[in-house]
Amino acid sequence: MRVDRFLSNLPRFNRRQVRLLLVERRVWVDGVAVSDPHHEVREFSHVCVDNQVLQAGKPARYFMLNKPKGCVSATADPQHPTVLDLLDEPDKAELHIAGRLDFNTTGLMLITNDGQWSRRLTQPQTKLPKVYLVGTEQDIGAQYATTFAKGLYFAFEDLTTQPAELALLGPRTARLSIIEGRYHQVKRMFGHFNNKVVSLHRERMGPLVLDAELAPGEYRTLTDEEIRQI
Ligand code: URA
Repeated sequence: MRVDRFLSNLPRFNRRQVRLLLVERRVWVDGVAVSDPHHEVREFSHVCVDNQVLQAGKPARYFMLNKPKGCVSATADPQHPTVLDLLDEPDKAELHIAGRLDFNTTGLMLITNDGQWSRRLTQPQTKLPKVYLVGTEQDIGAQYATTFAKGLYFAFEDLTTQPAELALLGPRTARLSIIEGRYHQVKRMFGHFNNKVVSLHRERMGPLVLDAELAPGEYRTLTDEEIRQI
């Protein structure tokens, strides 16, 4: 939210007072005096006027997990373990998953309480590639790459998928890079050729690569550099 709105929403300031506070540079966001009324205040921002704290700001949290098979990408499930069960962290109800994976898909999963950050990561408009290692039941034909690059029509959503890149690694293994994350997208793309996906592993989302040190089920916090890259 804009800082002028944030301040005017508080009962103690009217709009004129807010304008003055900003002009007089008495408003501090994350330790910096701000005068621009458009300056962004987030739930994570620390906001003061003079020396009085108006919002302490929550810590933003970011985790990378190597999702094992057999767990659900959800915050709660009545039957199966969830990815959040694997995290030994407080206030897990505040966290959400940036880009779900199917029950038996493995690999890179990013979990955060920062909705803006996760939207940048997952929105197709930002065009960040999601890279998967795919194993299939039948041989992968040479025509797959051309079809995936053109885009496939998904009748249910009434859309054509954005161009995807396929690199063959073996007769039944390939690396696929897609920029959307439609429901069961990879399985449906191979399903177009009646070829069942038998293993699926996410290696990368945009610049963030699954840490090779993480065994299935293990996680770590992201570094400042990794967070900034999104
Ligand atoms: N596409 C799928 O079909 N499944 C996943 O888990 C991820 C992408």
